Amino acid sequence: MSESALRHRFRERYGSVPRVFQAPGRVNLIGEHTDYNEGFVFPMAIGFTTRVAAAPRAGRRIQAFSENFQTAHTCDLDAPGPPQGSWGDYLTGVAVLLQRGGANLCGADLLIESDVPIGAGLSSSAALEVALALALAGMSGAQVDRLSLARLCQQAEHEFAGARCGLMDQFTACFAREGHALCLDCRTLEYEADPLPPGVAVVLCNSMVKHELAAGEYNHRRRDCEAAAAELGVRALRDVTPARLAQEDGRLAPRLLRRARHVVTENQRVQRAATALRRGDAAGFGALMFASHESLRADFEVSCAELDTLVDLARRAPGVLGARMTGGGFGGCTVNLVEAGRASAFAEFMRAGYLRATGIEPAIYLCQAAAGAGEVGGA
Ligand code: GLA
Repeated sequence: MSESALRHRFRERYGSVPRVFQAPGRVNLIGEHTDYNEGFVFPMAIGFTTRVAAAPRAGRRIQAFSENFQTAHTCDLDAPGPPQGSWGDYLTGVAVLLQRGGANLCGADLLIESDVPIGAGLSSSAALEVALALALAGMSGAQVDRLSLARLCQQAEHEFAGARCGLMDQFTACFAREGHALCLDCRTLEYEADPLPPGVAVVLCNSMVKHELAAGEYNHRRRDCEAAAAELGVRALRDVTPARLAQEDGRLAPRLLRRARHVVTENQRVQRAATALRRGDAAGFGALMFASHESLRADFEVSCAELDTLVDLARRAPGVLGARMTGGGFGGCTVNLVEAGRASAFAEFMRAGYLRATGIEPAIYLCQAAAGAGEVGGA
C-alpha cells in the first residue's frame, strides 16, 4: 500500500490526520550469527518497509490495527499485559521498554502496514519494532537517540518474542544508508558505510519455507556459543583467533567446536569481505559468501535442504559471484551477488531450477540498498 493510501485509510478508520513513520527490512551480505558473539556483520537495508501511521488519542491506551493481519491490538500503558503470541506483542514490548527507559508515553491510534516478507529472514520484526518505537516516541515528544532506540527494540524482542537476538537487525533499521552496506563491529558498534560496487546487483531468492525449529534453535545456538566462550576462558567468541582455536580444539566437545569454528572463521570472512569490497573485488567478496554458506551448513547447522538447493543452483547460474543463506536460517532467503547485466537471466534460472527441484515457486527480489528508519514527509 502506498504511503498516501495508508494516510487515507487512517483517516477513514480513526477520523484524524496521522504522522507516518517507517523502518526498512534488511539483508545481511555476510557475517551470520556473529552479532551476539560481539563479532562483525555486513548488512544493508532493503526497499521493503513497515509503515506506522499514528495520531495521539486521549487517555492511556494505544489502539492499533494491522492491515496485514486484519486484526486489532490494544495496549493499556498503565497495565500492559503479558505476551500473547501475536504481532501485538511487539507493540506492547516496545511500549514497555520505552517507558522503562523513562519516556512518558501518551495514548495513540496506530495503523500498521508492511511489505517486508514475514518469516523470510529479512527482519520484518525489527522493522516493525523500530517503526513502532519511532511512532510512539514521536506521539509523546520523547527524545530517544537512535542507538538507545535500537537497543530497546532488541530488548523487546528478547522479553516479548522470546528470541535472544543480537543487535544487527535493529541497528541496521536505524542506521542504514542508501546505496551502502554497513560493516559493523558488534562489540564497539563502530561501523563504516561502504558503497556497493557499480555493476553488481544484490538478488534475494526466497525459498518460501520457514521451518518450525527456527525460534528454539536460535537460542540453542546462542547458548552453544556462550558455552564455548566460557570453556575457552574468553568474554565472547570474538576474542578467539583461528590459530588459538586450532591449538585448543581438544578442550571443546565436538558440537561446541563446530559452533566456535563457524563464528571464528565467519568473523575473519567479514573482514576479508570488507577489504575485497573496498578494493572493488566483487568476485573475492562472492567467494567468501559461498564459504560462509558452507560454514553455516556444516558447522553451525542452521541451513536446510531448500536453502542448500538455492545455493547449489546459484553456483551454476549466469552471472553469479556469490550466494549464501541470510538471516537466522532454517528457511527464508538466500542472498546472491550477481553481475548487474545478468540479473534477469539469473532470476529466471533460479526460478525455473528451484521450481523443478522442489515443486515450489520461489519469490525473487532485486534489491537496492535503502535508507534507515524515519518519519515520512509531511501530513
Ligand atoms: C537474526 C537475529 C540477528 C542475527 C541473525 C543471524 O536475524 O535477529 O540478531 O543474530 O539472526 O546472523
